[in-house]
This record gives sequence, structure tokens and C-alpha cells, in this order.
Amino acid sequence: MKATRNILVTSALPYANAPLHLGHMVEYTQTDVWARFQRMQGHRCIYVCASDAHGTPTMLRAEVAGVPPEELVQEIAEHHRKDFERFHVSVDNYLTTHSQENRELTAEIYARLKRAGHIAKRSIEQAYDEQRQMFLPDRYVRGSCPVCKTPDQYGDSCESCGATYSPMDLKDPISVVSGTRPSVRESEHFFFQLGDFEAELRSWVAEHIDPSIVRKLDEWFQAGLKDWDISRDAPYFGFEIPGEPGKYFYVWFDAPIGYMASFLNLCRRSVLDFDEFWTEGHATELYHFIGKDIVYFHTLFWPAVLSGAGYRKPSGVFVHGFLTVDGQKMSKSRGTFIMASTYARHLNPDYLRYYFAAKLGSTPDDLDLNLDDFVARVNSDLVGKLVNIASRCAGFVHRLGDGRLAAELPDAPLLESFASEGDAIGSDYETLNYSKAVRRIMALADRANQYIDEHKPWILAKDPANTKRVVEVCTLGINLFRMLIIYLKPVVPELAARSEAFLGVEPLQWSDAQTTLLGTRIERFQTLLERVDPKDIEAMIQESRDEKVSQAPAKSDASEQIDIDTFARVDLRIAKVVSASHIEGADKLLRLEVDLGTETRQIFSGIRSAYDPAELEGRLVVVVANLKPRKMRFGTSSGMVLAASAGKNEIFLLSPDAGAEPGMKVT
Ligand code: 2FM
Ligand code: ZN
Repeated sequence: MKATRNILVTSALPYANAPLHLGHMVEYTQTDVWARFQRMQGHRCIYVCASDAHGTPTMLRAEVAGVPPEELVQEIAEHHRKDFERFHVSVDNYLTTHSQENRELTAEIYARLKRAGHIAKRSIEQAYDEQRQMFLPDRYVRGSCPVCKTPDQYGDSCESCGATYSPMDLKDPISVVSGTRPSVRESEHFFFQLGDFEAELRSWVAEHIDPSIVRKLDEWFQAGLKDWDISRDAPYFGFEIPGEPGKYFYVWFDAPIGYMASFLNLCRRSVLDFDEFWTEGHATELYHFIGKDIVYFHTLFWPAVLSGAGYRKPSGVFVHGFLTVDGQKMSKSRGTFIMASTYARHLNPDYLRYYFAAKLGSTPDDLDLNLDDFVARVNSDLVGKLVNIASRCAGFVHRLGDGRLAAELPDAPLLESFASEGDAIGSDYETLNYSKAVRRIMALADRANQYIDEHKPWILAKDPANTKRVVEVCTLGINLFRMLIIYLKPVVPELAARSEAFLGVEPLQWSDAQTTLLGTRIERFQTLLERVDPKDIEAMIQESRDEKVSQAPAKSDASEQIDIDTFARVDLRIAKVVSASHIEGADKLLRLEVDLGTETRQIFSGIRSAYDPAELEGRLVVVVANLKPRKMRFGTSSGMVLAASAGKNEIFLLSPDAGAEPGMKVT
């Protein structure tokens, strides 16, 4: 008898400023399959996650939406929770990092690190937006690369030449938040001294991290472990650092602590013991599933923080690659930036779980969702091979055996050979080689179909003397099907649940593969899984293309209402485009000169992808005339031209009916 393991697993916490897309689902599928497999083995496997609430993007997005960040976070976390449910991701708890538990743990961990001498304090210089009165994260400053001069680059690195630098090195830096030129200000920050943990980290990495990642880690060790800035200045959406007014914990400091917080929240509602999973000296295991972009945080910062604060380090960190769709980065205009909820409106989540599992290995290689292959594979494997076994046999059991399986099997060795594959398949799941597990299961499905082809129950059934034999052959077929469902259950929970109902059995466990179903009743066969209809894929792509560009879920109607006075403050005017031209170095904008009846204005408008300047001249448009002028790199934009938009290339300028004149007020 194998000893019961006590395991805690986590998936990376999705940011609470946007809904989940199919890229996220790769990780949740990978984690969930593993957790479900462990539970089927009889182990205790707790799976926790949460929404990653804090940081500048959440703060700014909430501002745009006109709601407090706490409200935005709750709303999006709820959306995330629903997506987890839709995809049968079996988390035991789903919290947000803006929770009481996380506040307590973050403060406690920081206090312990400080007491142990791992926190340093020093002044740094940073880009500052004078207009918005806020320090700017590197990504919120843009300008021309100091090395190759390519315009419109982020403040930390150049997408064109790969140079890395600090925001103020940019030529003509501009704050993305206000469009003004940032100044430089000094401020005191708190640093976690990662270097204190170098020796400990080196040996932990060697023992607990997959060799495919260790090479990268070696490079980082070689380069030297630098102090990590864990503080940010107000205004910032996060937890204020106790005793340091106006200073906040950086989102990446409290995010992984969110794993503990979600678990603590669960402990407070159950019999689970927090210390058993988070302190040294217990036979418990802790695994984090993450994407390859956040390896540094999880294999260096996180174990060092845990250790410095007196907690146990993880037993392992499992890293996967990125998702591409049809061989390319997900793209809004191609309709391949697909939200999880959009997918679930059109297609069964089990299909995607199966497809991802069929492609996931143990190394962080990128994974492609090829939509034609997806249709072909799901239809041929799940419907054509697996479910087909049950549908070929069930009718005969009902017609000739009154719905009752035979009392014995005609070919026990065949079933035994299926049972003996259980260990190999189990070890594939255990080592995250899901694609291998799926290949083995589908090879068995081929053998099951072959058996039915060879014994042809539909021919045998023509002779009443064969009745018993037909029911026996089909009983074996049903048992082979049951065995395959056991093996595939971690991947396709919905199909497994329907199959269990069809077989009239309790939820299947891994050890059930060693038993046979004889003499019991099964239900009449009803479709267990529909074929994928390519039309549903097309509809999903179309809907993804049409979805609002903003990734934040729509707010409720009530919070979107404004009163008439608020609307009246917007001065909308008819204007005539006098001239339109491209702007060197701005790939999204056109420079427009518009006649407002009483004056001519310059407006920069983000319509370049949809309009040729020549076709705009003379056209009437609607302009927000009292918009605060905005200084940009190429000059000042005084107003905004209104357009409807569904995506980068789908922009539609608003124009009045014939007869309207420049300067007319729009009400
Ligand atoms: O990269 C991300 O999406 C982060 N929100 C992941 C955080 S994982 C953990 F550290 F909380
Ligand atoms: Zn460059």
C-alpha cells in the first residue's frame, strides 16, 4: 500500500485587471490535471489560487473605469472564479491578494526579514510624472531608444535593438499616463538582499529544479544576485508598509505570499493546518506551476523570502512555455486573442483540456493551438475512438442483455494488458509528461476498437445462439472503455462524470483500473461528447475579433450611468478636416488639422491603421472640443476626434448627416 502524500499546489496568480484568456488556461489545465491525478491516487492534494490584485496597472485601470481599485479587483476576481469553474479547474480556494490574510502574512514576513537583517534602505532616482504626481514604473515611460533611436520604446528595453537602459536614458521620454515629459526625483526604497541567500539557493536549485531551467539559473548566479526593490511610493494600489507612511509593498513582493494567504484563508474555514504545509519538518510537499516568464521570481526571490522569514522552501517549481494560436502570438485582429469565457460560450472545455494535455511535456516549450488540428484531433481521438467504444457496445448490452453486463469476460488477458499500462500512464502524469500519457491511452483506444472490429458483435448478433457471446464481447468493450476513462479522467472531468453516470458507477479512482465491472446495469447510451463543429470555432474567432478592445469586463449598467450635467460638460462640435498627414515615428497616429468654424486646431488621432490621409480631407467629423490639450512628442493635440472601434483595423469615424456645418454643437 502506497503511503498517502500531503501535497499543496498552486498556479500563478492572474492579474486582477483583465479576464483570463486561453494562454492562462494552459497553466490551469496543467496544474489541474496533476492535482486531479494525485487525488485519484488517493493522495491529499490541495490546490489554491487567487487574483493578483496590486500594482500600478490595476490602479490606473480602476481610475479609467471610475471605480475604486478594490471594487475592480472583486469584480474581476469573480470573473476569474467563474472561468475556473467553467473549465473545471478544481481549486480548493480562490482568494485575492488584497485580502486580510495576505495583509497579515506580508507584514509578518517583512518584519521577520527586517529583523533578520535582510532589508536595506537607500535612495534611488526615478522618473516622476509632475502632472499626475506619481513615480512611473519603467514601462510607463516611452521614448526613442538611446542606442538605435527607434521611436516609441518602453523605458526599460528596446524592442528593436534589445538594449536595456533606465527610463531617463530615453531620448524625449514621455509619461504614458499624462503625455508629459517626466522629471527625475529621488525617493527612499527598501531592498531585499537576495545575495544573502546565494549558497542556499544554489543547492536548493540543484535539488529541486528541472535541468531545463537550471542553465538559465546558472547564468543569473554568474551575473550575481542583486538586491531587489520591494517598495513603491504612493500613489500605489497595495499594502502600505507598516511604519513607513507613503511606502507600499511592490506587487511582486506580496503576490507569491498570496499562495500562503489563499491557503491560510482555507485553513481558517477547515481542519487544515497551515504550519504543516509551510514550516520545515513536516512530510508535506509544495509545488508551484508557473510560466517561463516568471522563473526568476519563483526560483530565486520566492524561496529566499520564504527561507529568510523562517518558512519551508518549495518541493518543486514546474515551468511551462507560452501559447501560440495557429503558429503565431495571440492576436486581437486575427480573432485569436480568445478569452476563456468566450471559448466556453462556444466549445466544451474538455476539448481544450484534452488538446493541451496532448501537447504538454515536462519542459517549458511553447505550445501551439492549431485550430484545424484541434478539430481533427478532438473529433478523431475523443469522439471517433474513445466514446465510440461505448457507443458500439452499449446498444447490444441493452438489446440482448437487458442492460446488464455479462458475468464473465471472454478475453480477460486483453483487459489485464490495459490494467498493466496503469503504472506507466501514472508515471507520465506524475512527471508532467501528459502528451505521453495521452499517446498511451489513445494507443489502447485503438486496440479496444480493433477488438470490436475483430469480433463484430453486429454480425454475431444476427444469430440468436450468439446472444451470450455478444453480451460478453460488449461487456469487455465496456470495460475497456471504463479503463480508458479512468486513465483520462484527470484531463476530461466532464466526460468522465458523464461516463460514470452511463456506467452506473461511483466516481472512478485510479485503483479501479485493477477491477472489472461485471453483472451490473449500465444506462442506455446517450451522446457523451459531441463532435466539434468547425462553425463553432468560426463563431468564437468572430466574437473574439468583435469584443471590446478593453480587456476589463463590462461594468454593470448602474455604475456606467452619468447625469445630464456631466454629459453637458463635454463640448462636442462638428469639425471639417482641412488636412491630414502621417507622422514620422508614430505608427498609430495621423496628424489632422480641423476647422471648428471659429478656429483651426491640430489633433493627433489614432486612426492611421484604418484611414488614408487623402480620403479624410474635406470630411466632417465630431470633435471633443474642450478636451485638455495634450503635449506629445510631435506637438500638442488639442481635442479628440470621435470614432467607433472594435479593434486596431476596425475604426469608424463618426460623421454628421449632410447639412451640418463646422462649429455646430452636438447635443
Ligand atoms: O505574471 C503574472 O501574471 C503574475 N500575476 C503572477 C504572479 S504569481 C505569484 F507570484 F503570485
Ligand atoms: Zn534600440
